[in-house]
Amino acid sequence: MINQRYIEQFQQLETPFYFYDLDLLRATLDTVKREASKYNYVVHYAIKANANEAVLKTLTEYGFGADCVSGNEVSKAIELGIPNSKVAYAGVGKSDKEIKTALQHQIFSFNCESIPEIEVINEIAGKMDVVAPIAIRINPDVDPQTHKYITTGLKDNKFGINHWDFDEVGRILRSLPNIKLTGIHFHVGSQITDISVFEQLSLKVNKIHEWFEQNGFHLEHINVGGGLGINYDDPQAQPICDFAAYFKAFNDHLELKEGQQLHFELGRSLVAQCGHLISKVLYVKQGLETQFLILDAGMTELIRPALYQATHKVSALTSNLPTEKYDIVGPICESSDVFGRKVDLPKSKRGDLIAIHSAGAYGETMASTYNMRDLVKAYNSDELK
Ligand code: LLP
Repeated sequence: MINQRYIEQFQQLETPFYFYDLDLLRATLDTVKREASKYNYVVHYAIKANANEAVLKTLTEYGFGADCVSGNEVSKAIELGIPNSKVAYAGVGKSDKEIKTALQHQIFSFNCESIPEIEVINEIAGKMDVVAPIAIRINPDVDPQTHKYITTGLKDNKFGINHWDFDEVGRILRSLPNIKLTGIHFHVGSQITDISVFEQLSLKVNKIHEWFEQNGFHLEHINVGGGLGINYDDPQAQPICDFAAYFKAFNDHLELKEGQQLHFELGRSLVAQCGHLISKVLYVKQGLETQFLILDAGMTELIRPALYQATHKVSALTSNLPTEKYDIVGPICESSDVFGRKVDLPKSKRGDLIAIHSAGAYGETMASTYNMRDLVKAYNSDELK
């Protein structure tokens, strides 16, 4: 899965570090572009998934828009050369400073998550003498059947505006002079592997869309967010997601009016499989019933297992001995700092290299310096060529 010539170079580098296979990223982006263009769909990349410079530059070359969740992400998108007309900005807690930044950049859309937020954007836009294009983020109450920490579209989640507030939203929208409603926005969750969830979402969108039409709001765009899941168990079997089936689900079920555009905000499905966390075995320690493989990477580099009980496939890069069972753990002073329990891995020793796969999304961007550790480094296939 990782070419031998890179593994030889890894041995000269200080671990732990992220390694991005930009060739796989390009192959993924080619597929997304081809499949989305069949229906004229507009794809934004959710920067929060991976903001590594080389990854961002590659994404920018493909002409995708940006989905941002902070003022800094908005500024980064503009700095990368992504046209402001392709920058969307979501988030339940946009600060005044962030709203100003986004207004100055004249972004495509504020995805608004509450009535008080719409009022504040109107007020700030008024002071700046501009009109803010907004989309209402709606909570459609669709269960994405994923981990509860990455479920966003249920009625008791903090995200979006619920249907019982629509009349109030309509009244407010008509009364605010510095707001222009241009669309509606949805994002029901992340790591969704059941395509029927997107079919259900599409049917809900049709109903909600109808309410807006009936109430005199003609929408220029509908944004259905991201969420397409990847294969963590067997990344090699599916290095590129089934984007054809994903976009087809929307084409078959979501009804667009003449001239309306459908937007997507994909994060994980674009970048997860191209990233690997490369680590070294520090110690092999015999436990009571298991042996611990203690790595130099931990939850500070990849927090997903500790935070979401996520499992990432782990492989040995420098040993091909018969397998043994290991509890693979990091060095951090937390019992949740575990990558896997009772994992079959070729017998390993101090100094062996280990790869933790499918780590390109929500890996490096969620890294921390907890325990005063160094922030994790990253390399890519273009620079190691
Ligand atoms: N749009 C909005 C409004 C979002 O909140 C998100 C992700 C996306 C798009 C992109 O979703 P994706 O295509 O990547 O599923 N840290 C978690 C995932 C958090 C997702 C947050 N929102 C994880 O490691 O699983």
